[in-house]
Parts: sequence; structure tokens; C-alpha cells
Amino acid sequence: MISQIEETYSTSIRNMKRSVIRELLKLTSQPDIISFAGGLPSPESFPVQELKQVMMEMMDTEAAEVLQYGTTEGDIELRRHLVEKLYNARENMPITINNLVITTASQQALDLIGKIFIDPGDEVICGAPTYLGGINAFAAYGARFRTVELDSEGMRSDRLVQLLDTMKKAGRRPKFLYCVPDFQNPTGITMSHERRRQIIEIAAQHNLLIIEDSPYRELRFEGENPPTIYSMAKPGNVVLLGTVSKILCPSFRIGWVVGCEELVDKIVVAKQAADLCTSLFTQRIAARYMQKGYMVPRINKTVALYREKRDAMVNAFEEYMPPGVTWVKPTGGLFLFLTVPESIDCQEMFPKAIAEKVAYVIGSAFYPDGSGHNTMRLNFSFSSKDQIVEGVRRLAKVIKSEL
Ligand SMILES: Cc1ncc(COP(=O)(O)O)c(C=O)c1O
Repeated sequence: MISQIEETYSTSIRNMKRSVIRELLKLTSQPDIISFAGGLPSPESFPVQELKQVMMEMMDTEAAEVLQYGTTEGDIELRRHLVEKLYNARENMPITINNLVITTASQQALDLIGKIFIDPGDEVICGAPTYLGGINAFAAYGARFRTVELDSEGMRSDRLVQLLDTMKKAGRRPKFLYCVPDFQNPTGITMSHERRRQIIEIAAQHNLLIIEDSPYRELRFEGENPPTIYSMAKPGNVVLLGTVSKILCPSFRIGWVVGCEELVDKIVVAKQAADLCTSLFTQRIAARYMQKGYMVPRINKTVALYREKRDAMVNAFEEYMPPGVTWVKPTGGLFLFLTVPESIDCQEMFPKAIAEKVAYVIGSAFYPDGSGHNTMRLNFSFSSKDQIVEGVRRLAKVIKSEL
């Protein structure tokens, strides 16, 4: 390698940190470890037969088109389906095809949002805790984070008001507010209808754009979803991100951004420079799969499967966890967030958990300020029910030995 290469690195790569989760996940790859660490959907949720059929038909009838480059905006068939069947019909969002651009899954959408909004030193408001991949995407462009505490109804609106007032007095205008309102990663918390209304109002008063990142919305186990923040706010005040990763499969790398035309246009320009287009091959498979009506029944099966797994984990917590360990039972999604007594540092405890053959993600990874030392995120979608019970038993043993 050439000498002093580090001097040639850009400011943005210097801003990027290796993901704590990825580093810890390396330790969890031993086969006998029960890992609650990844955010992986269950392979049982993958519609293998349906995809096989769709793919074979596609190769017979439209191979020449789908093996080609696509447009940066994304496959017209997929965009039309999402706009009409998902947003117009089910979410009461009167958007048009010009309001939706396909991205290489939501992670690219987060990166492009960072690219179009953030200059080094700009401030972004987010929940504490919040999705690590969001923090990393924005931090790469030099963002600094101002956090707002969550409670069981989502981001606390009183704290948001305080923060925005303080920032205003200091002459600081945040670039946007980032939130994951449905079954949040990492806490599993859903923002209540009333809280959404409050956050929208406060943001509008401060002329603040809201980024609504919602990969888990379709995975509701009971009750009804509150409306999307996008549908409740004025057009142009919210950008909504969606993805097929948790409802079809992550490997397709298909997501999308919904926003006003001007903003969608900026995303398209930024995306052109990033990857020209998302794979038309996987986009068209997803479109045909949805057009054939496979999506909803499959999601219903996945929801039933994950509900059982969530219950298995909560029941195991009740059976094994010592007093002082708390959690909020999520009504959907993939995660449970555990708070252990203050005296325990979950990062220090991690190697002991690995020694007992169970893994989690340290909660502090999700707090931009590094707090949350006594919290951890546990995924319940990937492991089998038996593994969940055994894994919780092992974890409870480790926690008890720390107390
Ligand atoms: C809140 C949130 N946003 C975005 C993503 C990225 O998902 P993908 O890039 O697979 O669409 C995830 C993945 O877990 C997530 O939890």
C-alpha cells in the first residue's frame, strides 16, 4: 500500500465509524450461540415457491427488459403498485407516481437523505435510542445529533419543544427530525396517534422536515396502526421511507422514498451519482409478486409467526428474568428492548453472555450520546421458539450472576 494513505482519506470516511453491531456480530457467528443480536427476518417468512414461479415466468416473457439497466426513479410497475395499492388504497395517501422513487433499500434512502441535506456540523434531531444505521448514515456526512427521550408513546413532545426552543435561541436550525414511529428499532415502541399529531404540529411551527422511517409498519400483531405521519401532515412536511426487506426479503435491496416532487427529484439526482438505478430484475419480481396478490397473505402468515415468537420471548422473560429487569411488550416488529438494573453495564457483560452462548446488541449503540449502558436489544424473529426460551434462560443466568 502507498505510504501515509490515512492522510489522503476524505473527511467523510474519517467521520464513519465501524458499526459496533457488526463488530459484535462477528463474535456471535459460532454455531452453538443463540443470537438475538441481528435484525434478521425469519427464513420461514421467505415466499420461496411464489418467487420461483414469478421468476420463471418473468424470464420467459420479459428477460430482455429486466436484465437491462432501469430508470433511476425505479420500475414503473412497482412504483404504480405501491402508489395505488399501498398508499392510495390502504394508507389514505393521495400521492402520485411522481412522489415515489425506488431506492436500493431504505439504507440507501437514509444515505441519500444525508447527502442532500447534511453539511458537516449540521444538526439532526432523533430519538434516544434510535436506529443505528440512521445515525451512521447521517454521521457519514458530518451530522451532529440532538436527541429526544422516548416514552411508551414514542418521542416525547414536551422534550422536543424544549430542545427546539433552546436551539432557536442559540440560532441553530436543525436539518430534520428523524424518527421510526412504527415498532421502532431498537425499542419496539410505536408512536401513538396523539403523539404523531403533536410532533407534526411542533415540527410545522419550527419549519422542520420530518423523516418517517417505517420498515416494520406491516408487521402488526394486534390492534390497528395509527395513520402514517405523512398522511397526517401537510404535503411537503414529511418524507416517508419504506422497504420490502422485512415483508418480502432483504436480499432484493428494494426500498422507496415518498415525498413532495421537488424532494423526490433531489433524491433522483443524488441516486443517479450513487448507483444509476436499483436492480430492475429484483424490482420487477417484487412488482409481479405483488400484482399476483401474494403479498398480503404472506404478510399475514409472517405476522402470525412473529406474534408467537414475541409471546415466547415475553413469556420466557416472565419466567426467568430477575426482579429489576423491565421491558415494553411490542405490538409488532422484530425487537424487544430490555432494561436491566443500573449497576449492570451491558457492554461489559457481553463477553460473559457469549461465554454462556447467547448474544444481544448493547443498547448504548443506539444512543448517539453513548448512554443506555444498562439496555440491550433482542431480536425475536430469527430464532426458533425453542431457541428463544433457551436463549432467554441463558441470558437471565448471566444477568443474575452480575447482580
Ligand atoms: C429503522 C430502519 N431503517 C432502515 C433499515 C434498513 O433496511 P433496508 O436497507 O434493508 O431496507 C432498517 C433495518 O433494519 C431499520 O431497522
